[in-house]
Amino acid sequence: MLDQSGVWRFRELLPHIPNLEEHAITLREGNTPLYHLPRCARATGVENLLAKHQGMNPTASFKDTGMTFAASSAHQGKFRWVACASTGNTSASMAAYAARGNMHCLVLIPDGKISWGKLSQALDYGALTCQLRTDFDGCVRILNDLVRQKPVYLLNSVNPYRIEGQKTAAIELMEQLAWEPPDHIIVPGGNLGNSSAIGKALVEMRELKLISRLPKLSIIQAQGANPFYRCVREFGGKKLEPMTADTLATAIRIGNPASWKKALRVLQATGGEVEQVTEVEIAAAKAEIGADGIGCEPASAVTLAGLKKLRRSGFVKAGESVVLILTGHLLKDPDFTINFHRGDLFTGTTAGTAGEAEAAQAKNLQRAPVVLDADLGAVIAALDAAERSS
Ligand code: F0G
Repeated sequence: MLDQSGVWRFRELLPHIPNLEEHAITLREGNTPLYHLPRCARATGVENLLAKHQGMNPTASFKDTGMTFAASSAHQGKFRWVACASTGNTSASMAAYAARGNMHCLVLIPDGKISWGKLSQALDYGALTCQLRTDFDGCVRILNDLVRQKPVYLLNSVNPYRIEGQKTAAIELMEQLAWEPPDHIIVPGGNLGNSSAIGKALVEMRELKLISRLPKLSIIQAQGANPFYRCVREFGGKKLEPMTADTLATAIRIGNPASWKKALRVLQATGGEVEQVTEVEIAAAKAEIGADGIGCEPASAVTLAGLKKLRRSGFVKAGESVVLILTGHLLKDPDFTINFHRGDLFTGTTAGTAGEAEAAQAKNLQRAPVVLDADLGAVIAALDAAERSS
């Protein structure tokens, strides 16, 4: 059973949990596919472009790889309650693993700022879900105070076992590449746990001589939620100035990332870059990944949008190999996708007015549904029109 999990089959490379067989809570996470992105490769001029799709985990985001590990440690510690603050994916994942392990779970999420897909998961898996009238950073503050007063086990990514489990995405990636590292790995940056985990795994794999060199790990943020980008570019990594974050990629709507120091060490150790991308760039990149038949949620698409910028700046060269880490499934946030294709995504925001060239490019990618009478002639006319314009 444990060997069917893409996390636990690497357990020799992870910390030891006593009586593991009795405490492991697994949904057979990990073992996620590595896909070629041929259209995106052509569009970016990077021939060897791959996507490791962590959205193909049991609860449809990368969180499951860390959650199986941390939830198992909570079980081993005989905790009755586990808790997290979340922009949606952590809470969905925690709720599932808590349910499987017969633990109660408390979810703190920002009211109105998480996608329905993620909220619905927490509800079905039976979490006590509190929507707080604040943002993610406000939820974290309340949770940190709560754990000092109540015997609940904290399952946010400051929990070291989350990071340990999430390392396996990088280990599995190297295994899929026959231990031949790519030149670049690109990840989205929110609370910065994932980049820290992947970076830690890379450094450890090199120390163990499983790989002979380190890929450059680059971190991409949304422009409206860019405290880490500013930390590196404006303050030379000396300080992180918290901000009020805003982006339609709600998963990474985070203004005060917990793991920024770890992520900074990872950037320095691997020689990676940090970039920021606009709302329009995110939306266009998401549709492009979709057009390759793969798809992802908005936060994951910052990786492709960031790659385009890193190509323009010359940091990524045409002949180099690149792996994007797609962190969440397309179906996590269907509202974003539908609004984009209908042309409504930026209504009432300032994002739609920025960058005319990008906006035009995004428009080309829109495939709004066509409403027709139930009439064969009308459908044939739509088909012919689509054929002419293809
Ligand atoms: N992509 C997705 C889909 C996410 O859900 C998150 C974070 C990130 C990227 C950023 O990863 O925080 O490790 O830098 N989601 C958290 C949550 C914060 O609560 O679900 P990070």
